Amino acid sequence: MTRKKLKVAVLISGRGSNLQALIDVCATAEFPAEIVLVVSNVPDALGLARAKAASLPTAIVDHRSYKSRESFDDAVDKILRDAGAEFICLAGFMRIFSDAFVRKWEGRMINIHPSLLPAFKGTQVHEQAIAAGVKMSGCTVHYVIPALDSGPIIAQEKVPVLAGDTPETLAARVLEAEHKTYPMALKWIAEGKVRFKDGRALFAGEAR
Ligand code: GRF
Repeated sequence: MTRKKLKVAVLISGRGSNLQALIDVCATAEFPAEIVLVVSNVPDALGLARAKAASLPTAIVDHRSYKSRESFDDAVDKILRDAGAEFICLAGFMRIFSDAFVRKWEGRMINIHPSLLPAFKGTQVHEQAIAAGVKMSGCTVHYVIPALDSGPIIAQEKVPVLAGDTPETLAARVLEAEHKTYPMALKWIAEGKVRFKDGRALFAGEAR
């Protein structure tokens, strides 16, 4: 019997290397999720070519064509629903959604961030890590809540910060970890091993 796969939309703004990691893992028959749509707010995002190469449906919702954050969010919401998406993976998506959109998709939207949250939120993350002198950084997959980079943590992987690291060398090392951690977190969710409950990430078998 074939189990129903979780229908996922991946939202990007750029290079799409995390999208590629998700495309690769979703291409395997046994993976419990499938990508039904790739959405970019940037018309020439490199990741769109990755989606097309994998024969995935794509949509461009250019935020510059919308008068307000809410009207952009409504357009994204409609496209996702029309595509039958049940779950959203943000993968280098550089727009902040309104609280209303986040509430609509509460527990059904995750993000990957290139630091060990709650350290180093926002942008210039690797610059922040190097300036702070931390010896470890890494990546975090978390549920999205209205507060930026603050949602319940699903998975993290750490990587060393080495003497002489630049933001670029550290970013490359963290990115390798991201490409393993994001598929793993999505697998856990699609298998029902973790879910969003009462504002936290609840793992199967875990006492509340
Ligand atoms: C990644 O470092 C991700 O953690 C951050 O933005 C970057 C996107 O890279 N949110 P890519 O577009 O997936 O290559």
